[in-house]
Amino acid sequence: MGELFDAVDIIRTKRDRGELDDRQIDWVIDAYTRGVVADEQMSALAMAILLNGMSRREIARWTDAMIRSGRRMQWSGLTRPTTDKHSTGGVGDKITLPLAPTVAACGAAVPQLSGRGLGHTGGTLDKLESIPGWRASLSGDEMLAVLADVGAVICAAGDDLAPADKRLYALRDVTGTVESIPLIASSIMSKKIAEGTGALVLDVKVGSGAFMKDVESARSLAETMVSLGTDAGVRTIALLTNMQTPLGLTAGNALEVRESVEVLSGGGPEDVVELTVRLAREMLALAGLDGGKDPADALGDGTAMDVWRRMIAAQGGDPDAALPQARESHTVLAPADGVLTTLDAYQIGVAAWRLGAGRSTQGETVQAGAGVEMHVKPGAVVRAGEPLLTLHTDDAARIDRALEALTGAYVIAPSGSRPDLQPLVIDRIA
Ligand code: URA
Repeated sequence: MGELFDAVDIIRTKRDRGELDDRQIDWVIDAYTRGVVADEQMSALAMAILLNGMSRREIARWTDAMIRSGRRMQWSGLTRPTTDKHSTGGVGDKITLPLAPTVAACGAAVPQLSGRGLGHTGGTLDKLESIPGWRASLSGDEMLAVLADVGAVICAAGDDLAPADKRLYALRDVTGTVESIPLIASSIMSKKIAEGTGALVLDVKVGSGAFMKDVESARSLAETMVSLGTDAGVRTIALLTNMQTPLGLTAGNALEVRESVEVLSGGGPEDVVELTVRLAREMLALAGLDGGKDPADALGDGTAMDVWRRMIAAQGGDPDAALPQARESHTVLAPADGVLTTLDAYQIGVAAWRLGAGRSTQGETVQAGAGVEMHVKPGAVVRAGEPLLTLHTDDAARIDRALEALTGAYVIAPSGSRPDLQPLVIDRIA
């Protein structure tokens, strides 16, 4: 049978700032998934969308077509309400690790399908894979069993979850077409809606370490995603949060697991605890569980830690095993007395990536122990010669390139200066 449309006509329509109708969108997504629309045609279309945008109707239909390219999961067999969180990606963003068990300890079910890092942002699965024995791939039945038994599961999305997005995301990554609000919103929301969660909290990062560098574009992305979720029947809100400086004191896989375990033990850096508790409260409220156990109490009384240990063990991991440590390290010292005013998230992310924590091509293996440990955060008073950062890697030859990435990443102002510190949570979009 002949095809309903011609890809070149569709590309021309978007190139000339026209609108695609529903049937054209359904066809192009389906034909791309079937291999009838070629990668070079889809990349031209993605570039036309990046340059000329899409209407709300087009974005909604595009998202829906990507959901229909695969399977929509459903959790109706569970006794607990489902609620999830998605972050648009940042540096040191390990929040999913303490968050999922905390929310489960407060009575909800968290079906978290996560990804791997690419470029300077880390991926949740890479972090968890630094725990000896832990495996990311679960069948649908295994996922349901862990969710029903433990209340939280973090695993890789199967190949049948929004397969159109899998192909398109990999293509965008190599064609300079990631940074488009319609394409990011539809990519994230197609996966989250297909995942079958009843409620969703979006953590939209803003700043140097995020896709969205300014508050206005982050707000526009958040509003687009919230309306896509709400229209699809998923109770959705978004927080805009600061990614000008990394979250917590570590960026790198095993380093971030260690910090998450500190948070689950009732300690850990203030910003990681604050964001975990804030996101958990939002997730529970959307699931209709506000007024029950408070997330701060679950972190303080060991119940979130109990869920963490069971969740890791259910996926073959040993929660008591020692985490891998990198073979080499190098410490950067403060060059002068003063106040640390800047610690740039993007540059720290690039340094961690160059040390081996991230990958430059899909499928590359990452080093579990590599990354950057921060000894101070903006606002801290420092003395000349004190440690600022420690770089960790298995491969000493990587240290010079990481140090290059850190040129200008930290600023020490004269003693008595008052740094202009941004709040962690910038806005809430409902
Ligand atoms: N994360 C996604 O899943 N898709 C994007 O387009 C950007 C971030």
